[in-house]
Amino acid sequence: MQRIQEQYPSEKPQRLVDTIDKVQISDMKHQCLTGEPSPWVVKHLPLIRKGGRVLDLACGSGRHAIWIAQQGYQVDAVDRDVQAVSGMVGMDNINIIVLDLEAGEWLRPDQRYDGIVVSRYLYRPLLPILPEILNPGGVLIYETFMEGNGRFGKPSNPDFLLLHDELLALYSPLLSIYAFEQGGESKPKPAVMQRICAKNL
Ligand SMILES: C[S@@+](CC[C@H](N)C(=O)[O-])C[C@H]1O[C@@H](n2cnc3c(N)ncnc32)[C@H](O)[C@@H]1O
Repeated sequence: MQRIQEQYPSEKPQRLVDTIDKVQISDMKHQCLTGEPSPWVVKHLPLIRKGGRVLDLACGSGRHAIWIAQQGYQVDAVDRDVQAVSGMVGMDNINIIVLDLEAGEWLRPDQRYDGIVVSRYLYRPLLPILPEILNPGGVLIYETFMEGNGRFGKPSNPDFLLLHDELLALYSPLLSIYAFEQGGESKPKPAVMQRICAKNL
């Protein structure tokens, strides 16, 4: 708990209404998908306590946040891109939080989640923090690009690409691994991805 405050000094999360005029265009937008939630998220969401609080980190326009909220969960949908999240304004069960995860801004330090969903986003300093903000029994569902993806296009910057087995190596000592996979795929677009689902026992 202390570690969160040291690495990510707590600032009051900005609400959409406070920041609607400060539109930021995401440089990751070309990798964002709209519409259908990822099959990995759909498959593992039922492991999260029914009706629990779920964090969708770097939620984009909310393809997961919206679907998760429709399943009866309470969703904190976090992104720095006001324009992207604006379509979720007023939706039931969705709390939009606009903040820059890479600029020392963080959620309330005492906030804990029954589930965390991260899809297509990587900022390595956040990875060890995620187990710390899971409630007992909480579930982490994470998927993003990994090394090798550069041959299909972006992201190709190593900062945005997981290493082989990286999520498994990081989370095995901290969480109970429920499922893990990595490798190339052709749909929805050719990419090399890594995915994990892990539980805080
Ligand atoms: C590839 S999109 C993925 C969106 C969503 N998770 C999905 O799978 O549809 C990456 C998202 O990360 C967000 N993002 C990038 N850097 C960020 C930062 N520093 N703080 C918060 N969000 C960030 C972008 O605004 C963008 O919405």
